[in-house]
Amino acid sequence: MLTIAFWLLVTLIYFWIVFGPVMKFLHILWEIIMQIYNQKTIDLRTKFGEWAVVTGSTDGIGKAYAKELAARNMNLILISRNLEKLNRTKDEMLLINSKIQVRILAVDFAEGKDAFTKIHSFLQDISVGILDLWIMDIIGTLLNPEFKHNKLGDDSAFNLFL
Ligand SMILES: NC(=O)c1ccc[n+]([C@@H]2O[C@H](COP(=O)([O-])OP(=O)(O)OC[C@H]3O[C@@H](n4cnc5c(N)ncnc54)[C@H](OP(=O)(O)O)[C@@H]3O)[C@@H](O)[C@H]2O)c1
Repeated sequence: MLTIAFWLLVTLIYFWIVFGPVMKFLHILWEIIMQIYNQKTIDLRTKFGEWAVVTGSTDGIGKAYAKELAARNMNLILISRNLEKLNRTKDEMLLINSKIQVRILAVDFAEGKDAFTKIHSFLQDISVGILDLWIMDIIGTLLNPEFKHNKLGDDSAFNLFL
């Protein structure tokens, strides 16, 4: 009886040593295959509409967002202060995706309410699906608990944007 138990244990250890790494490898391979299989890129146009507005779009995070949105087939409205940089960025976006439309608007958010009024009238005929705000003041507005609880009133930057 002891001999049988011994050989059973030896066999189990043998299988564990030989097949353990193989099973682990197969498991990882399975996970990778399933991830690739399940990966569905969201069609932003279908989900949100054709146009995306990106502020702070000529540098840094805003520009990175704009590039990603261009690659994902969204028409872009690029907003920053410097017209030259805006034109350069527009060309870059069209190089990424020549099928999209890109409009630019030079606005300085330091102008306060006037800036938002300009944007508001620029966006009149456009149905905006995605709004990427990469200027700290605006992000600050959106993160403001007063905003979250809708207490900022009609003059809030966000309301003017809409
Ligand atoms: N980088 C980070 O890790 C990080 C993390 C959290 C938050 N943030 C905040 O996110 C924002 C963007 O960061 P970033 O690193 O991408 O900055 P960035 O590289 O300096 O880019 C800023 C962009 O905003 C535009 N801009 C600056 N002032 C403006 C104004 N008064 N009116 C209109 N456009 C203006 C700039 O273009 P023009 O000069 O042509 O106007 C540029 O396109 C900043 O406010 C930053 O504090 C950044």
